[in-house]
Amino acid sequence: MNNVNDYEQFISNIKKKTGIDLSLYKEAQMKRRLTSLYQKRHASSFMDFYRALCEKDELLQEFLDRFTINFSEFYRNRSKWMELEEQILVPMLKKKHSLKIWSAACSTGEEPYTIAMILAQFLPLKSIRILATDIDETVLKKARKGVYGERELQDLPLHMKTKYFTYSEGLYYISEDIKNTVVFKKHDLLQDPFQNNYDLIVCRNVFIYFTNVAKHALYEKMSQSLKKGGVLFVGSTEQIFNTSSYGLTCSLPFFYRKE
Ligand SMILES: C[S@@+](CC[C@H](N)C(=O)[O-])C[C@H]1O[C@@H](n2cnc3c(N)ncnc32)[C@H](O)[C@@H]1O
Repeated sequence: MNNVNDYEQFISNIKKKTGIDLSLYKEAQMKRRLTSLYQKRHASSFMDFYRALCEKDELLQEFLDRFTINFSEFYRNRSKWMELEEQILVPMLKKKHSLKIWSAACSTGEEPYTIAMILAQFLPLKSIRILATDIDETVLKKARKGVYGERELQDLPLHMKTKYFTYSEGLYYISEDIKNTVVFKKHDLLQDPFQNNYDLIVCRNVFIYFTNVAKHALYEKMSQSLKKGGVLFVGSTEQIFNTSSYGLTCSLPFFYRKE
C-alpha cells in the first residue's frame, strides 16, 4: 500500500472505531506525530499500527492519549488573562452577576481553574459554574484531581497560589472550593453538539491543530453558541480572519465578540 492510501485507510478505520475524525487535523503535523508513535511501537505502517491497536487495548489508549498535545498551564500568556479580567469580565459583571462560561479543549484543567480564580475576585464561589470539556478522558481525570507541579503554576499570581493551593511534597493541590466551580465532561469539538447562550467561550491552543475547513465550521458553531455580546477567547497564535462572516467582531486581539 502506498503512503497516501495507508494514512487514508488508517484515518477511516480510526473514525469507525473511535468516532475521532483525524481528517480534520492538519495532515503533515498529525502524520509526524503518529509516525513517531508507531515506529516506537515497532509497526511498519499506519495500517500495521491500526491492526496492533485493535489487538491491544493499551496501545489504543496510548494512541488516544498521544494524538493530541495536552500542554497547558495556569495564566498561559498572562497578559491576555489580565485583559480578559479587566476589559471583558469586569464590564460584563457590571451588567449581571452570573455568567455562562465554557472552557473548550481544557486539557488538564489549568484554564477553567484560572477562570474560576479570576471570577472569585468578584463573585461568591457558589455562583460560579464553568463547563470544561476535552476529547481526551485521561486529561479530564487529571483535571478533576487538580494536582499540579511547579511548572504549571509558574505564571499564576502569588496571591492566588497562596489562597487556593496546598503544597505537599513537590505538588500543589487546588482547593475543593475552586474545584467545585468546574464541571468536566468529555466532548469532541469536531463531532458533538454545542450548548448555547454562552457569555464566554475560552478555546485556546487547539485551533492550530485543525484544518481550515474544520476551523471555519468551528468558528461558525462557536459564534452560534454565544449570546449577543458574548466573547470567544482564542490562543495567542490563533487570530481569526474575516470575522464578520461569522457574526463576530474583534474587540481586542484574540477576543471576538458576537454581534
Ligand atoms: C494544547 S492543549 C490546550 C489546553 C488549553 N486550552 C490551553 O490553552 O492551555 C489542546 C487540547 O485540545 C484537546 N483536543 C484536541 N482535539 C480536540 C477535539 N476534537 N475536541 C476537543 N478537544 C480536543 C486535546 O486533548 C488537548 O487537551
